[in-house]
Amino acid sequence: SANVQELLLSRIRDVHDHPKPGVMFKDITPLLADPAAFTALTDALAGLCTEHGATKVVGLEARGFILAAPVAVRAGLGFIPVRKAGKLPGATLSQAYELEYGTAEVEIHAGDLGSGDRIMVIDDVLATGGTAEASLGLIRRAGAEVAGVAILMELGFLGGRARLERALDGAPLEALLTV
Ligand code: PRP
Ligand code: MG
Repeated sequence: SANVQELLLSRIRDVHDHPKPGVMFKDITPLLADPAAFTALTDALAGLCTEHGATKVVGLEARGFILAAPVAVRAGLGFIPVRKAGKLPGATLSQAYELEYGTAEVEIHAGDLGSGDRIMVIDDVLATGGTAEASLGLIRRAGAEVAGVAILMELGFLGGRARLERALDGAPLEALLTV
């Protein structure tokens, strides 16, 4: 609702020139520190999981973990971490992706999901879409379906939505806020 959006937006802090000059950082820590706002965010994302028939929730390291874990509990669903490479001890699937400078790699425990699962991917910010795109690749390679991607905040000017179109393959990209 408009009230929830207003509350969420009011608890996100713009930090100029972080982590480097020219970048406007969207700081969600004031939102996390406000129980009314964090609850409203959790409820909104959990509602999207239910609406789109998710069976499990994937959170993207690191800020996505903070959002996705309470959503999973609230929606009564399991939580699966997508981690930066080298952290998960079991059998993993890995996906490299392009950053502004260089590449990054994310991993998932392949045994945590498979056919019959419908996965909702949750993160705080959609910027270029690289992180979410790599995560959707992992989910499909594990044999699971994508229920959707649910994001607190989409940075519209970076074109992440267009980049994700192919990987979404018709699944919804839900952004609670677009800036
Ligand atoms: C940030 C943000 C998203 C990602 C979005 O994570 O939390 O996960 O960038 O960017 P993209 O759409 O261009 O991929 P980051 O890896 O900076 O750090 P974190 O570990 O604090 O989440
Ligand atoms: Mg992140």
